[in-house]
Amino acid sequence: MEMQQKTLRRAHISSVGRFLPEKRLTNKELEKMIDTSDEWIVTRTGIRERRILEPGLGNSYMAVRAARDCLERAGVAPEAVDTIIVATVTPDMFFPSTACLVQRDIGAIKAWGFDLSAGCSGFVFALTTAAQFVESGRYDRVLVIGSDVMSSIIDYTDRATCVLFGDAAGAVLIEPCPENDFGIIDFVQRCDGSGEPHLHMKAGGSRKPASMETVKNREHYVYQEGAQVFKVAVTQMADVTVEILRKNNLTGSDVSFLLPHQANLRIIKACADRAGIPMEKVVVNIDRFANTTAATIPLCLYDIVVEDKRVKKGDYLVMSAFGAGYTWGSVLVRWWEDW
Ligand code: UT7
Repeated sequence: MEMQQKTLRRAHISSVGRFLPEKRLTNKELEKMIDTSDEWIVTRTGIRERRILEPGLGNSYMAVRAARDCLERAGVAPEAVDTIIVATVTPDMFFPSTACLVQRDIGAIKAWGFDLSAGCSGFVFALTTAAQFVESGRYDRVLVIGSDVMSSIIDYTDRATCVLFGDAAGAVLIEPCPENDFGIIDFVQRCDGSGEPHLHMKAGGSRKPASMETVKNREHYVYQEGAQVFKVAVTQMADVTVEILRKNNLTGSDVSFLLPHQANLRIIKACADRAGIPMEKVVVNIDRFANTTAATIPLCLYDIVVEDKRVKKGDYLVMSAFGAGYTWGSVLVRWWEDW
């Protein structure tokens, strides 16, 4: 059980940005590549198309553009950023971190930063990490980026996984909240490494470095036992969604928006159902972008804050995620300003 926060000041999300690669890969195009059908993909997952980054550009290309979009919307200069956290499992390279490349390319001359690896829970983990820096009074502007080039680690001959993922980046700026009853209110976060066998990348790390053999055996791709992961995802994502509400004496009817990780529309519906949140309040982008790993939740936020301007001061937002590790968690936000 997490300790209830003793907060000197609260952190809030003061801006949102995103980057979407232009190239769309539709289910119809996948039908020509592998033995699948638009009908199977839509009914089993809810996905219609996904974005694919041009090969050779790398994660920082997207992360930098999402960061600039976010900072421009906030009217905050890159020089004013204190910290950059990039949540990703597809960095440009093992080192230096993608955060360093973003720092250089946006000109955040005062900032330090690091990458955070938590699979599809990466954004939620990075968001709460950033909030701690701001709440403690240590920093005033932390940039959180969820960015993944999933197409760089997907085996496009494996029909069970290649239809599921897409590329994108989302960014948020975390600043002190002008009013203490608003902002990032609470979070619940977990991990359980017993999930490793069911969702991982077999080679390329220190246990099994890249070799001719690993390449030949196609071990540098996402390995996922879909049905196994599905079962755990439904239970755990729903549990932390219910838990964060209970912990804060709220019910599903108090929530204005649920922003769930977008791995499968059936997981999203099950989670909303168990938390007592009707689908009208659930933000869904899986049809357009598929599973973009660390980017799914900031992209959901972009839709309701920037695109549709549906979020009002005082609205409760719940973000919930589940991913490799296993990792999972939920964040409760009470939105500070009308957009
Ligand atoms: O984001 C990180 C966490 N990840 C997740 O939460 C993903 C969780 N898992 C899932 O979303 C689902 O398990 C999948 C979408 C991956 C798969 O759906 P499923 O309903 O669990 O299908 P399944 O794996 O049990 O496969 C059912 C059938 C199989 O055929 P048989 O053995 O019944 O003849 C598969 O071979 O569907 C077949 N299949 C496909 N058919 C057409 C698997 N992939 C495809 C495909 N097109 N792309």
